[in-house]
Amino acid sequence: MEFKELVIKARTCRRFSQEGEIPLDVLTELVDTARLTPSARNAQIVRYAVIQDKALRAKMEDVFVLGGALPPDQKPRKGADSPTGYIVLLAPQEITLFGTMDIGIAAQTIQLAATEKGYAACMVGSFKKDAVADILQKEGVSFFDEETGAKLIPYLLLLLGKPGQERELTEVKEDGKTLYYHDERGYNMVPKRSLDSVLVLKK
Ligand SMILES: Cc1cc2nc3c(=O)[nH]c(=O)nc-3n(C[C@H](O)[C@H](O)[C@H](O)COP(=O)(O)O)c2cc1C
Repeated sequence: MEFKELVIKARTCRRFSQEGEIPLDVLTELVDTARLTPSARNAQIVRYAVIQDKALRAKMEDVFVLGGALPPDQKPRKGADSPTGYIVLLAPQEITLFGTMDIGIAAQTIQLAATEKGYAACMVGSFKKDAVADILQKEGVSFFDEETGAKLIPYLLLLLGKPGQERELTEVKEDGKTLYYHDERGYNMVPKRSLDSVLVLKK
């Protein structure tokens, strides 16, 4: 797949198919790719928790609500649309702006790599961080980073699985709205600004 085609295909997915799960070794491989990404001062502050176990997934379902922009009847349904895997991105509690960039780079790399393998992802920033920390702690995850001495917290959640909905790019219309919506086909439509409106200099 040509790279731009992959970027276009790697749309946020909030509904996952229950026919076929994302295997644990694929989730692990995604982290193995993410750990190779650029990082400010090469500090590599991001830590990853991979979840595929069914009982743990059931617990994770209660820590987030998706699709704030969608009306109730279009929101993903628990169970029928649930992700089949999760990657939690953890980093030190005290980080600079560069640190948050590192997390974003890792997350987008995972989303692209998952798409290339035929899976889909949703980055979730809006989730119950304490509840996730609690779930991980019960699994024996330490929130004390041995190498840096830092206290880790969950920053971003990645939902993963086989896509269970169509997603498509569209242009931002004259009304200027950028919020995603479902069209009459049920596709998740994602308006992107035109090249002209984002390119501030071309010399
Ligand atoms: C840092 C970050 C946090 C996000 N958090 C959420 C979230 O909490 N809930 C959600 O439904 N989508 C979340 N998203 C997905 C965005 O809503 C999505 O990227 C946006 O609608 C554009 O769609 P696209 O990814 O298909 O281009 C997040 C995306 C990013 C980059």
